[in-house]
Amino acid sequence: MSDLDEVKIRYAAQISDVSDLRALDDIRVAALGKKGEVSRMMSGLGKMTIEEKKVMGPALNGLKDAIGVMVETRKAQLEAEALDARLKSEFMDMSLPVSAPQGRLHPVQQVMEEMAVIFADMGFAVKEGPDIEDDFHNFTALNFPPGHPARDMHDTFFFPEDKSGERKVLRTHTSPVQIRTMMSEKPPIRIIAPGRTYRCDSDQTHTPMFHQVEGLVIDKNTHMGHLKGCLMDFINAFFETEVQVRFRPHHFPFTEPSAEMDVRYERDGAAIKIGQGENWMEILGCGMVHPNVLTACGLDPNEYQGFAFGMGVDRLAMLKYGMPDLRDMFAADPRWLSHYGFDPLVQANLASGLS
Ligand code: PHE
Repeated sequence: MSDLDEVKIRYAAQISDVSDLRALDDIRVAALGKKGEVSRMMSGLGKMTIEEKKVMGPALNGLKDAIGVMVETRKAQLEAEALDARLKSEFMDMSLPVSAPQGRLHPVQQVMEEMAVIFADMGFAVKEGPDIEDDFHNFTALNFPPGHPARDMHDTFFFPEDKSGERKVLRTHTSPVQIRTMMSEKPPIRIIAPGRTYRCDSDQTHTPMFHQVEGLVIDKNTHMGHLKGCLMDFINAFFETEVQVRFRPHHFPFTEPSAEMDVRYERDGAAIKIGQGENWMEILGCGMVHPNVLTACGLDPNEYQGFAFGMGVDRLAMLKYGMPDLRDMFAADPRWLSHYGFDPLVQANLASGLS
């Protein structure tokens, strides 16, 4: 038996005896590593005569390949064994009853999920964007030119100037997700974008951080009728009753024409009843996407048009579930949460009712 055969048999025995991946790798290094046994034998080739090289060169290469194959085969075996063992040890009996969960879903989370379920049923996808935005996405592309007074309406939180002299902002609305979506996707677009928004404002009906759900539909023939129908269907599904609404002309730089949608309500003692009554409450802003916004996103306003809307999630949660003060929502009081929170194991769905 040649020396090489002896080496091969020795490694074959070691490899088949080994029982964990780390030890297997040690063997691989001892044989094939830079300073390994086979590598050392190969560096000896330089000192051989041409005749010897002709025999030993291929023989050593064969040895190296053979050991490599043995290592890989054993590695695959050990990995499969490890996976089998893990699957056995992590076995869980799915038919066992769950122990009662400790936490409750925050009403804001619940309401966002209800909204996503209703809009998903109408064919909308869910998109997200960053809370820290740049001026372009939060303002400029939305047709607020630099220095435009409408920028002041938003009580913006600005970051200090960065190295390039740019001041980032905490997004004042979810509308920047419209821009991000139109710049990265081709129409037809049908998305909602739920998320956090920030304005420097605090009283019974305003908190510096609040939540919005944005909506955007872009296609070739989308018109104001689609906007109205979509939002009326949404609001009836959301309140799970027939709700009377009205659209009032309004102004937003990024939509033209623009409107606000109000719902009818009446006060019944401390409670608010949605749907009928003598009073109107504003719940969202909406409109047809402004041609300048389409152009800023690289879409041709002669080819595409669409509508957008933005609604305050916290206010809709208050109205639907009767919470009197917006600030309680973010006070992180466990008593409040156990009273107003939702069972995390019950998923909002249209078939069995939203809540
Ligand atoms: N971004 C507006 C706001 O926060 C709401 C809005 C969104 C209005 C989309 C029209 C279209 O007040």
